[in-house]
Amino acid sequence: MNQSNRILLLGGNGKLGKEIIKSRLFEQIYFPSKKTCNLQEKESIKKTLDDFKPTHIINCAALARRKICEKQPKEAISVNIIGTSQLVQSIIDFSASNKEPRLLHMSSDAVYHCGKGDYDEFDPTVPICNYGWSKLAAECSVRLLNNYLIIRTRFFNPNEIPFLDAANDIFTSSIPISKLVSYIYKLLSVNYVGVLNIGGKSESDFDKYKNYKSDILKTDMISIRENSALPFCNNYTLSTKRLDSILY
Ligand SMILES: NC(=O)c1ccc[n+]([C@@H]2O[C@H](COP(=O)([O-])OP(=O)(O)OC[C@H]3O[C@@H](n4cnc5c(N)ncnc54)[C@H](OP(=O)(O)O)[C@@H]3O)[C@@H](O)[C@H]2O)c1
Repeated sequence: MNQSNRILLLGGNGKLGKEIIKSRLFEQIYFPSKKTCNLQEKESIKKTLDDFKPTHIINCAALARRKICEKQPKEAISVNIIGTSQLVQSIIDFSASNKEPRLLHMSSDAVYHCGKGDYDEFDPTVPICNYGWSKLAAECSVRLLNNYLIIRTRFFNPNEIPFLDAANDIFTSSIPISKLVSYIYKLLSVNYVGVLNIGGKSESDFDKYKNYKSDILKTDMISIRENSALPFCNNYTLSTKRLDSILY
């Protein structure tokens, strides 16, 4: 990356944010806490942009837990929808007197409709849960910027698989978190504007996780759905042809 780049990371205290910081790939990176830059407090976003003057922003800040979004829809609206919109409005204001920073915004495979999988970026987006709807609404405001990349993905940490069991009939393209971070690094300086899927091998949760946690037990979607009382889709696999065409 160019030496004069100044990267603002929001959500640096979260799973993905911590991994981005830990990677040491990103020079000149500033990661204010939620106390310093809160998506729900527009003045704090304005001050952060004015003080740091970023050339790039990586937005990992979100209410990213499906259960909480389902149980507390007002919170999902406040953080994911209104909060992201406030970030976008602040970037527009900041860009009136500065070069518009490039925004890499983290979204989710949960925005796609639940169909046969291998979704490409132009497939229908009809989420099945509050989390997905709030992430889709966030994407809408990001699209009003001139220089943005919306990343639809799902990731996991091979060293911290928190489940005792995994379904052999839920298929995703979930990617190891460190691999996602290296894609984010490459995509910061690519000119592409729009939506991009980032994923790894498409396979069942059980087949994926057993590679990293050999004693993981096999279960199925019906059992997981019954235990969690959350809506589940059996196929969130992603086509990554566009990613390949941009990077390789
Ligand atoms: N986890 C996944 O598998 C997955 C899959 C697809 C997409 N994503 C997306 O990837 C991004 C990062 O996910 P993650 O798993 O790293 O999430 P996470 O661990 O829950 O971290 C979320 C981060 O957002 C911050 N945050 C929450 N509300 C905020 C607010 N009002 N203002 C500023 N910061 C706020 C949190 O700060 P505090 O820690 O201080 O509360 C935390 O640093 C999210 O956009 C998520 O939707 C995640």
